[in-house]
Amino acid sequence: ASDFLIAPSILSADFARLGDEVTNVLASGADVVHFDVMDNHYVPNLTIGPMVCKALRKHGVTAPIDVHLMVSPVDRIIGDFAEAGASYITFHPEATGHIDRSLQLVKSLGCKSGLVFNPATPLDCLEYVMDKVDIILLMSVNPGFGGQAFIPATLDKLRQARALIDKSGRDIRLEIDGGVTPKNIGEIAAAGADMFVAGSAIFNTPDYKATIDVMRAELAK
Ligand code: DX5
Ligand code: ZN
Repeated sequence: ASDFLIAPSILSADFARLGDEVTNVLASGADVVHFDVMDNHYVPNLTIGPMVCKALRKHGVTAPIDVHLMVSPVDRIIGDFAEAGASYITFHPEATGHIDRSLQLVKSLGCKSGLVFNPATPLDCLEYVMDKVDIILLMSVNPGFGGQAFIPATLDKLRQARALIDKSGRDIRLEIDGGVTPKNIGEIAAAGADMFVAGSAIFNTPDYKATIDVMRAELAK
């Protein structure tokens, strides 16, 4: 895909005003809502679950919601998120005992499915499930917290993932998550990413539209 999707991570939004934050960031030009789910087990932090996803839908959010599961196990929460209005559901392969089954479960519920790879997790398992993924998400920080610095080794890994996608001939998004800023988004795109999660780089600025506009300008270069 030659089009780019910008997916603000609501992890860095003001949770006390979450509905307005999401409405505001979408009105500012974001494409997708990135929804980070942490369980204080797979990662050392605890965030939000299906009830909050459902509440955003009830608040009138119609944009795609990209649910990034940092939980283990994954299967028993997938159904709740599908019902709560998730559009994409991605999970970490090491968080499930049955990668193929979990991917099939997501798809059987009508959502787009994806695998998430931590900075030092190899892409090996993709070889066997390329036909069942709609998104490949590369973590460019260790999951658990917003506001960390982009790990540069991820650029080579992006090129590796891009080559796998091109070879498959399938329409698979290559998403990057962690430490994305207006400053590095251009080189991240050049390495093959086409979907960009950004939390602190957007929500920690006063004018979301101005920040997203700068990101788009960088992507257009
Ligand atoms: C980290 C989350 C990210 C995080 C990104 O575990 O998956 O989505 O919120 O935040 P920034 O953009 O601040 O690195
Ligand atoms: Zn995330």
